[in-house]
Amino acid sequence: MTEPAQLVSELRAAARAASRHAYSPYSSFTIGAVVRHPGGVHAGCNVENGSYGLTQCAERVALASAVSSGVAPGSFDALLIYRPGDSALPPCGACRQVMLELMAPDALVVSCCDGDHLYHWRVRDLLPDAFNMDEHGHD
Ligand code: THU
Repeated sequence: MTEPAQLVSELRAAARAASRHAYSPYSSFTIGAVVRHPGGVHAGCNVENGSYGLTQCAERVALASAVSSGVAPGSFDALLIYRPGDSALPPCGACRQVMLELMAPDALVVSCCDGDHLYHWRVRDLLPDAFNMDEHGHD
């Protein structure tokens, strides 16, 4: 099973490259994310909007890109988030909910930066007692 530091060495350059495409005139945050699956990787960056609530985080863009290219939901085993500078950034609640639905429960999520600071979780630990259609969607 991949370790956090290993995932950073494997995917940080790709996440950094994706972050350079960020469209973030409002926050100036430039975030990159790369999601891994058995057939390869997909990247995303944050895409903001003047109607602020429509902003899409890098993580959700990467996952949506993979799914729309035909990658099976549930097959993602790792996701790396990258923020330039010396401090990594934890994912928002909306992204945690989406990761929980599309990624394997034991998939690794790592958030890194240019320095050594990082956060890491297994998907199942990102959102305790999360809403889940399989469990809560039907009577
Ligand atoms: N953002 C991400 O893309 N990923 C995260 O994990 C946290 C925040 C973006 C959304 C928005 O464009 C900016 O960072 C500030 O919230």
